[in-house]
Amino acid sequence: MNYPFLLLLFLSSLNASSAYNAGKSLYMQKGCFSCHGNKLEGLHKYPYLANRAKNYMSYKLKRFRSKISDNQQQEMMIPFAIGLSDKDIDDLTTYMYEFVEEKNKDKYDDSYQVSGDGGS
Ligand code: HEC
Repeated sequence: MNYPFLLLLFLSSLNASSAYNAGKSLYMQKGCFSCHGNKLEGLHKYPYLANRAKNYMSYKLKRFRSKISDNQQQEMMIPFAIGLSDKDIDDLTTYMYEFVEEKNKDKYDDSYQVSGDGGS
């Protein structure tokens, strides 16, 4: 058995999931969900963030952090980006990129589609 290798594998998987979890709690703590949605699905004119390119998302967040915006709409992001450290941005963008929806089986199944004549 190659223990050092297994340990390394374990540590790297731990590291990957801890960035995801750290990003997830930041996303909730910093109120990102209130505009971008609990499932990162976006709301109204706020863009969805789920599974989007990590590099591009961190580029955008760093621009907002440096108070750079391209239009008035984006200015809304500046106060939310300003307090983020590089590590926060890394964790958040890992969460966005790797986002998987946690299915809650207790809730109603919204994948159910009515087909055929709806009894009309
Ligand atoms: C008050 C609402 C609001 C909150 C809260 C908010 N955002 Fe945003 N976000 C926006 C708006 C508006 C844009 C710009 C949309 C556009 O470019 O038209 C944006 C853009 C972004 C983008 C760039 C997306 C793209 O398509 O270019 C990222 C990444 C992002 N937000 C992440 C976050 C994170 C992380 C947080 C929490 C720290 C957060 N946002 C909190 C409103 C919000």
